Amino acid sequence: MSNATATTAVPQVNNYDPQAIKPLDDYVHLSEAELYDRIQEAKRKLGDRVVILGHHYQRDDVICHADFTGDSFNLARQAQTRPNADYIVFAGVHFMAESADILSAPHQKVILPDLGAGCSMADMASIEQVESAWEQLQELGIANIMPITYMNSAASLKAFCGRNGGAVCTSSNAVKLFEWALGEADKLFFFPDEHLGRNTGVKHGISLDKMVVWDPRLDLGGNTAEELREAKVILWKGFCSVHGRFLPRHVDERRAEYPGIKVLVHPECRYEVVQKADLNGSTEYIIRVLSEAPAGSQWAVGTELNLVNRMTKLHKDKFVTLLSPDLCMCATMFRIAPENLLWSLENLIDGHVVNHITVDEDTAHWARVALDRMLANRGQG
Ligand code: 13P
Ligand code: SF4
Repeated sequence: MSNATATTAVPQVNNYDPQAIKPLDDYVHLSEAELYDRIQEAKRKLGDRVVILGHHYQRDDVICHADFTGDSFNLARQAQTRPNADYIVFAGVHFMAESADILSAPHQKVILPDLGAGCSMADMASIEQVESAWEQLQELGIANIMPITYMNSAASLKAFCGRNGGAVCTSSNAVKLFEWALGEADKLFFFPDEHLGRNTGVKHGISLDKMVVWDPRLDLGGNTAEELREAKVILWKGFCSVHGRFLPRHVDERRAEYPGIKVLVHPECRYEVVQKADLNGSTEYIIRVLSEAPAGSQWAVGTELNLVNRMTKLHKDKFVTLLSPDLCMCATMFRIAPENLLWSLENLIDGHVVNHITVDEDTAHWARVALDRMLANRGQG
């Protein structure tokens, strides 16, 4: 972790000499084969000094270079298992790179090959909005409420949870985290994903009328004081633009098209879709279910396109298709291209750390507190 300036949801460019670095323009016309060979060669030259982490939603021509693949939390933990690596190149999105910086050793530098690789869901909750909501709840006299943030959030929100007795959760441990949190507090304030929060609340046996939505544009989030006092879970009005595209009618259409097909979705999908599906769970869960499914089984999968396509290719003895006819691809994940990856690696060889992602010490400390509470109370999905 670095001592450099505070990082918010807006990516920061670090203090390398722009004159000295190799320009990205030099890479945009390289052929696929040349990019592949040069990335492999750069990795060979950097050896143990670099580790490349690849999220499951990355494109094939990038993920093929990853030393580790995983979901957001597993990747952040992988960073801790390679203390010899001076550089962690994160093929994923900004909040993941921040988490890697928070969890990695002080000498390690985390690099995001394209600073435009953000997350629209994470951007739906800013620290100012969350602090204002929290103050409004306190003014109503709502005490004994615990803030929980999804991993897909800025480091400042994780730190807010750390400071206020809360925790982080991922889609694979949200049920377990809710169980723990509701044993500690009367109610939960969950951000930024409304759908994961609602789907998890329902798994925990909380009725829909005990979960209200907080719209940050409205006073009291658009609720009455009474509704907020009665609620068990207050859900932030945020969503994933990729998983939000799956609709209940897609489940009906796939079932009509392929009788007997099983529907498997991510809990970032809306409640009505999750209710109609046969199974739902985190990215790692989806991968596990498909790998353990019998030959000849048929699956319509409601998650990011690159992962579904990879599963289709990997499981040739099964039928695996995307749940929706639309191409549900995460455009920001897709911004990490072989060109940026090679550019960042070859600059490292020259001693230039480009696109260095850092979280300031105080934010990192409190975010780590919230992450540690998750680790102490997590389960597997
Ligand atoms: P996981 O990586 O935790 O499965 O989250 C899904 C996702 O949307 C990542 O951006
Ligand atoms: Fe964000 Fe959704 Fe993309 Fe994940 S898939 S990075 S939650 S927009």
